[in-house]
Amino acid sequence: MTPLIERFRDRLPVSAATPGVSLGEGSTPLLHAPRLGKLLGIDLYLKWEASNPTGSYKDRGMTVAVSKAAEAGARAVICASTGNTASSAAAYAARAGIPALILIPEGAIAGGKLIQTRALGALVLEVRGSFDQALAAARELSDRGTHALVNSLNPFRIEGQKTAVFEIVEELGAAPDAFVIPYGGGGNTTAYAKGIAESGLATPLYSIEAVDRPNTLATAIRIGTPVHRPKVELSGAHVVAVSDEEIVEAWLQLAREEGLFCEPSSAAGLAFLRRRSGEFQGARVVVTITGHGLKDPDIANRYAPPPVQVDADADAIAAAAAR
Ligand code: F0G
Repeated sequence: MTPLIERFRDRLPVSAATPGVSLGEGSTPLLHAPRLGKLLGIDLYLKWEASNPTGSYKDRGMTVAVSKAAEAGARAVICASTGNTASSAAAYAARAGIPALILIPEGAIAGGKLIQTRALGALVLEVRGSFDQALAAARELSDRGTHALVNSLNPFRIEGQKTAVFEIVEELGAAPDAFVIPYGGGGNTTAYAKGIAESGLATPLYSIEAVDRPNTLATAIRIGTPVHRPKVELSGAHVVAVSDEEIVEAWLQLAREEGLFCEPSSAAGLAFLRRRSGEFQGARVVVTITGHGLKDPDIANRYAPPPVQVDADADAIAAAAAR
């Protein structure tokens, strides 16, 4: 597969001098969702970003950010994260051969993300505080010059992430009627708005946040004060809040109706569409599914039916299956 930087070289701020630090990111499937679409009355497409190398869309931005950091001679990278940026930064830093320092809010990131980040060899520091506080600390360290910041405040992250819009429009052969994505810190909203503008489109962008930002069960978007909020407001994106109950219902339905097991935050867009489907009848809508369900096994364990124990006996198994 063509690395993202190669595929979109003419639309990214890279040169021949930029080392391409790649794990085979981007070029993710755009899946038509006829079953769920029919239920909602929408011509529904799902951009399956979980198929990126570390299981989330973060890899699109990270390949550019870490490549540019390597080009600039950075000796280490740093980020604060609710988990997915952490895994992605750890992976791309390892690929580039530079250390990664990861700040996470203590006890507040999903288990799969923590394990993944640890296994990738990053130094993980659990900060006694919120994501917002961890990000403030990461920014201060990056200002001191010891570490390159690879949070989405790094403009190269936004550049890489905007390419999802290019892929969608290229594959559909036209703009959809709407893009729908989750909204945590707002980096991806900023990126999509940029991708839409650079494509010369006026397609509406819906950014879906959690009603209870600081406490939502969707830990990826558990961010009290989104650092990109001013840019999100300027972007013209429509911001809508959904409840945890709506997120869980959409998340379970996506898995059961379409076979896509994502993490709860990734279902925020679908939760919005389920509530407001009346406004999108017959429209072609692309919902971006941002991260893999295996990232958050504890939530799945809470909501998915547990296995039933059975003897290794055909009759017993047939009886259990008929129940
Ligand atoms: N979906 C997933 C799976 C995420 O991990 C995030 C953000 C978002 C959506 C929201 O994107 O912040 O650009 O508005 N995760 C960040 C992290 C905060 O640290 O991994 P956003």
